[in-house]
Amino acid sequence: MCGIIGITSTRPVAAKLAQGVRRLEYRGYDSVGVATLADNGIELRKGVGKVDQVDAELDFASAPGITGIAHCRWGTHGGITQANAHPHVAPGGRIAIVHNGIIENFLELKEQLLAEGAQFLSETDTEVVVHLIERALKVADSLEEAVHVATAQIVGSYALGVVCLDEPDKLIATRNESPLVVGFGEDEHLIASDVAALLEHTKTVVYLDNREVAVLTPGSCSIFDPHGEKIDKPRHEIDWDVEAAEKAGYEHYMLKEIFEQPAKITDTIRPRLRDHEVVFEPDTGITADILRGVDRVVFLACGTSWHAAMVGEFLFEELAKVPAEVEYASEFRYRNTPIPPGTLLVAISQSGETADTNAALEEAVRRGNRTLAICNVRGSSMTRIAAHTIHTHAGPEIGVASTKAFTTQLAALYLLTIGMAQAKGSLSQQQIDTMIMGLREIPQKMERVLDQAGEIQNIAKQMTSRSNAIYLGRGAHFPIALEGALKLKEISYIHAEGYPAAEMKHGPIALIDKQMPVIVIAPQDKLTYQKTLGNIEEVKAREGTVIAIATEGDEVIPRLADFTIFVPETLYSLGPLMSVLPLQLLSYHVAELRGCDVDKPRNLSKVVTVE
Ligand code: AGP
Repeated sequence: MCGIIGITSTRPVAAKLAQGVRRLEYRGYDSVGVATLADNGIELRKGVGKVDQVDAELDFASAPGITGIAHCRWGTHGGITQANAHPHVAPGGRIAIVHNGIIENFLELKEQLLAEGAQFLSETDTEVVVHLIERALKVADSLEEAVHVATAQIVGSYALGVVCLDEPDKLIATRNESPLVVGFGEDEHLIASDVAALLEHTKTVVYLDNREVAVLTPGSCSIFDPHGEKIDKPRHEIDWDVEAAEKAGYEHYMLKEIFEQPAKITDTIRPRLRDHEVVFEPDTGITADILRGVDRVVFLACGTSWHAAMVGEFLFEELAKVPAEVEYASEFRYRNTPIPPGTLLVAISQSGETADTNAALEEAVRRGNRTLAICNVRGSSMTRIAAHTIHTHAGPEIGVASTKAFTTQLAALYLLTIGMAQAKGSLSQQQIDTMIMGLREIPQKMERVLDQAGEIQNIAKQMTSRSNAIYLGRGAHFPIALEGALKLKEISYIHAEGYPAAEMKHGPIALIDKQMPVIVIAPQDKLTYQKTLGNIEEVKAREGTVIAIATEGDEVIPRLADFTIFVPETLYSLGPLMSVLPLQLLSYHVAELRGCDVDKPRNLSKVVTVE
């Protein structure tokens, strides 16, 4: 939702704060601000716009002080205004805070404060918090005690960074539901919403858990549990370097992340694949006995991760012979779906911070169901809610449109399916060996698809002036049709819908005319290939433009379609890892040709931590 960073140091911090908030901009970018503790008071600089734009006006780096906080916002309460930008300063001018999350009881708290005569400068929920801290500090013995008293009154989610002129070398950090990481620098301590903002200063971090409080000075770090007891937290060494979060020479993060997919698939499958079996790391707690005991799977996810779950449903039913269903997390959490014992709840999320998915998962845990997360961010909230986690190794995904996270989620689902089939004996050893071999070949087959980026860019030119598009797929590729449509609409703003190909005749075919591009996923599979050819002919008969995704060597499709993109032949079940790539590249090039902000599309943020 928003990004926060804070530093307490022996050296000036403003430039580092500005750079750090740049690395967090994908979390929200409608306004940005920096606050440092200067000798003559709090130096507050904030404005509306992206970091570079506001920094050019306010010169963040010149702010004095060796303690400070910064924030980039994706507004939830209050318009996009300078007053609503963070940091927020208490009326007495001595305390400043930054916040990521939503204070659900903020209206009630604000009414209480207004009744006591408080003056508010903004419409935000966050400003209520700085008033509560200032009020608590009048009787508390320390800033951390005041923060503890204030947050005890809060209902909702928060990651907070707090500084105060009364204790100018101290930085207080605490969280509930929203992510917050503590970094151990050289004669300095840092906090951030995401490790990407810390990597150039440290790779040693600690992930705070809910309602824990970190009290930081340049030379000390004390962490307290929700009851105020001092605790030791495990330190993690991050193996992502700053370059991994850079664009590596590509025009956009999204394009870099599309081309990283072969390597990230390798990183995700290699540690778990043996010649004849799949083995999960001991710290996942996933054993053959646990998988053998699963007799039903329910997936919980949102957005692109929901599309991955749709492929997972196909895999579990087709290969592991386990009934599966996919639930929108935002719907599941408000229903009383009967979940019989023996059901495995599988939550899928790139960020591990999607509020609806985490809330649905927490509900499943509360009901006593066995839970498993497929997640890309170590230490994220979801990984601490689920009983088991399979980490995807996609590395930081900065582009708002998810690409490598999606395909590594599919890779994790293939691993889980093979593991389940092994445990249950639903596939022969030969079939398992074939699957494992097929999976090992995927990265180099992906490279062959990505090598066609130039041709795909040419095809994209046919779509830049269109207002609509239809995506068709069958079986395991129906979720890929949905994913392709989402990619196009979320970054190029062209309206697009995905359908099972056979659904065309039940309504959508009325939309076909010469202005309607139809992207058809048509692998040469035995079951439905001929039927899909029929769908292509139906579209052509109505003057629609057909862009087909076909299997290398297919000589029929190019004669029917206006444009054909070939993907290498694979096992049918592995086909989604091939067919999604052209659709990712197609959406990227259409958006780029339309001059859209590919990495930061309008109205979207990378992590949706609001419900
Ligand atoms: C996908 O391109 C979008 N960015 C969005 O649908 C995303 O997949 C969704 O918000 C879920 O995010 P998560 O995987 O981090 O839970």
